[in-house]
Amino acid sequence: MTTERAPRVRIGAPNELVLERGDGRIEPLHPLWLRERCRDPESIDLRTQQRLQDPSDFDLSLRVTALSQPAPGMFQVTFSDGHQGSFSAADILEEAALAPGSHDSPAARFWDGSLTALPRARWRAAPSDDELASWLESFLTYGFIIFAGVPSEPGTVLKVGAQFGFTRETNFGALFNVRSTPDANDLAYTSIALDPHTDNPYRTPVPGIQLLHCLVNETSGGLSTLVDGFAVAQALRTAEPEAFRILSTTPVRFKYIDTDTELTASAPPIELDVTGELKSIHFSPRLDFVPLLPRAELEGYYRARRSFDHRLRAPDFEIRFLLGDGDLVMFDNCRLLHGRTGFDPAEGLRHLQGCYIDIDGPRSLYRVLRRRRAQAGDVRRSA
Ligand SMILES: [Fe+2]
Repeated sequence: MTTERAPRVRIGAPNELVLERGDGRIEPLHPLWLRERCRDPESIDLRTQQRLQDPSDFDLSLRVTALSQPAPGMFQVTFSDGHQGSFSAADILEEAALAPGSHDSPAARFWDGSLTALPRARWRAAPSDDELASWLESFLTYGFIIFAGVPSEPGTVLKVGAQFGFTRETNFGALFNVRSTPDANDLAYTSIALDPHTDNPYRTPVPGIQLLHCLVNETSGGLSTLVDGFAVAQALRTAEPEAFRILSTTPVRFKYIDTDTELTASAPPIELDVTGELKSIHFSPRLDFVPLLPRAELEGYYRARRSFDHRLRAPDFEIRFLLGDGDLVMFDNCRLLHGRTGFDPAEGLRHLQGCYIDIDGPRSLYRVLRRRRAQAGDVRRSA
């Protein structure tokens, strides 16, 4: 068995700081890349950590003119513009390890219908940092978490949402009630089954995270369903690359209309980031309108959509669970699709309350907790 060495930063050529990756690859650290990372009071405002200079003004042919290692793990660099910067190897390694587009948070673990150990936790209004960090880790890894024991008091979903990020208010209000009503302005407010979909693809940006809190469920149906859209997209990419290409490059118009609102937005059903990685799923077959394309392209699109949709609805990828009184599910609306089985409103009440929060709240909180716990660890070690 071969174990890869930990990466390290070291002095290479006389005027060159190099990154030696674990697999032995050597990468010189570009002088401008380093210069932009100077942390001294001349370069940044120490309170906000924001730059005091526009790095575009640095000399494009900047060089390292002197290099020393005053202490283990620390490097002092003199640049050709006369500036001197001190760098911690650990800091440089941490940043160099980030892949382009990385969110610096736990990597997504794709799942399918065989997932049986669902990420669950008992809700506590004042969790410890460790508890909160473990909830966030589950959420960021699986794209969802189910809480039990959330007080069945109307409005509590907003308090839970506020624990993780900022509420995204919409034309449905800060909070929306999901129960069957006779004059429903959305199919969610009926008792029919809902196939997997992402919410509100007609908004820019789409609501990043949805929370659904069950106040009461007296029906035997109405099971909640979730599908990992990234896992399905990945399966499509492997099995039908052409369908994947079409769905990741065809902008589809989504539309919502009622008396006071008319929202439209365009996005490909499978949105990729600039590095080609999965960024967001936009899928709601009741609301999508493909533009009028040449016949052959349209036929390709329809074939691709059918294949993706059938995979999304297949039991191989879907999980089902009952949200009982006091349960709350929080899920990533950019990655997961959600739905529900139909129910008979004559059996009794089924009342859920929902809200949206921005996608970056849990990631921010995760990083803050990591920093706080690391600092606490440092304090404990030095005490
Ligand atoms: Fe929905």
